[in-house]
Amino acid sequence: MKITVVGTGYVGLVTGTCLSEIGHTVTCIDIDQDKVNKMRSGQSPIYEPGLDELMKKNIQEKRLFFTTNHKEGFSGVEVIYIAVGTPEKEDGSANLSFVEQVGKDIAANVERDVIVVTKSTVPVGTNDWIKKVIERNLVHNVKVDIVSNPEFLREGAAIYDSFNGDRIVVGADNEDAANRIEEINKPFGIPVFKTDIRSAEMIKYAANAFLATKISFINEISNICEKVGANVEAVANGMGQDNRIGSQFLNAGIGYGGSCFPKDTKALVQIAGNVEYDFELLKGVIHVNRKQQEILLNKLNERFESLEGKKVAVLGLAFKPNTDDMREAASIVITKHLIEKGANVAAYDPVAMENAKKVIDSKVHYVSNTTEALKDADVALILTEWNEFKDLEIGTFEENMKQSVIFDGRNCYDPKIVENYHVEYHSMGRPSVKNSKLV
Ligand code: UGA
Repeated sequence: MKITVVGTGYVGLVTGTCLSEIGHTVTCIDIDQDKVNKMRSGQSPIYEPGLDELMKKNIQEKRLFFTTNHKEGFSGVEVIYIAVGTPEKEDGSANLSFVEQVGKDIAANVERDVIVVTKSTVPVGTNDWIKKVIERNLVHNVKVDIVSNPEFLREGAAIYDSFNGDRIVVGADNEDAANRIEEINKPFGIPVFKTDIRSAEMIKYAANAFLATKISFINEISNICEKVGANVEAVANGMGQDNRIGSQFLNAGIGYGGSCFPKDTKALVQIAGNVEYDFELLKGVIHVNRKQQEILLNKLNERFESLEGKKVAVLGLAFKPNTDDMREAASIVITKHLIEKGANVAAYDPVAMENAKKVIDSKVHYVSNTTEALKDADVALILTEWNEFKDLEIGTFEENMKQSVIFDGRNCYDPKIVENYHVEYHSMGRPSVKNSKLV
């Protein structure tokens, strides 16, 4: 099948590459010439494990192409995927101007009947609107079918998820179109759930909102655990063994970040508001998530009378491991606070430092490894649970720091193991370890 994907952000590039891997001929369109040149040589503009290799292979096997030219990209194509961004507007709603422009570009260039598949996360009703935008602007007399096909890929695990997802949602108002999209996806071997367009659009928001709710829920439980002397890890484990609850997404910490949950939860509150429904629960989820970073900072401020002149080692900047993405990362708010308090911040992240420099306070000092960050530090904060940090010998903190006080925002270490070292260890929702030799 000849497929074109418009937009080579994280969703578009992963989708295009994986569709080529299962045998389709895929052209990816992007307006950025430099980016297109880079991708043609098999270099991914984003950090995503396994993506470069897969791109190179399919470029070599002549199934994956990149262009800035819409005419060339849409020529003779049977299926077009829209995967451009829907950034958040100031009021929390989704900005659909990029999607609208793609609709107009499609209308101006397609010369045969096409199925337009929306991958971008768009509010309920948007697919019907895109269809109208295309039909209103069509230059040639062709038939356009529209299909909503939301993505459920996690950054950092997107290639794995593409081949091992739980389901593929296909929303269409035309059975033929739905069947053809099902056929395209068959080689992935993932069950396809077919439904109507508006339900498919809603599934994406509801799924992300529910996952965000699980996180805020366990974070509140974690805050209570701290006060009543329980251990949130044990609580999550005991809860998660109930199949109705499930064990995933119950890791307490400093809240969710990234390009999806913060944006999609706010957008869903907005979608509900537009039909005069007050989504109170989801508003609470968003509020709790914001508060979670403050909780770590409050603990730190309680522990140290002043942070003025103190060396703070920050381990991890990305919003989660295995990505260089800094969007809505907890580290942005936390490092800003540390700088305001006069701390001397030494930060290290295995891959996100270049992106961090664009969004984090310029007074943060970047170092090239964990030991350098910890050297003579008064306190260490762990903000992203990279394996590199999880695998650290606790002795490394003791050997390098001036005072081995650790605030672990991601529960990387087992307190039982930490007890064997001369460190003071505070984590989220678990009893602190205070080694008497330190005090
Ligand atoms: C999320 C969803 O998991 C994907 O299914 C969805 O396709 C994607 O959004 C999207 O809408 O495009 P992603 O944002 O890449 O994927 O990352 P997640 O792995 O879901 O993590 C999101 C945030 O939640 C991270 O900051 C992570 O640290 C946090 N999190 C996750 C927790 O704090 N606790 C958990 O138990 C799980």
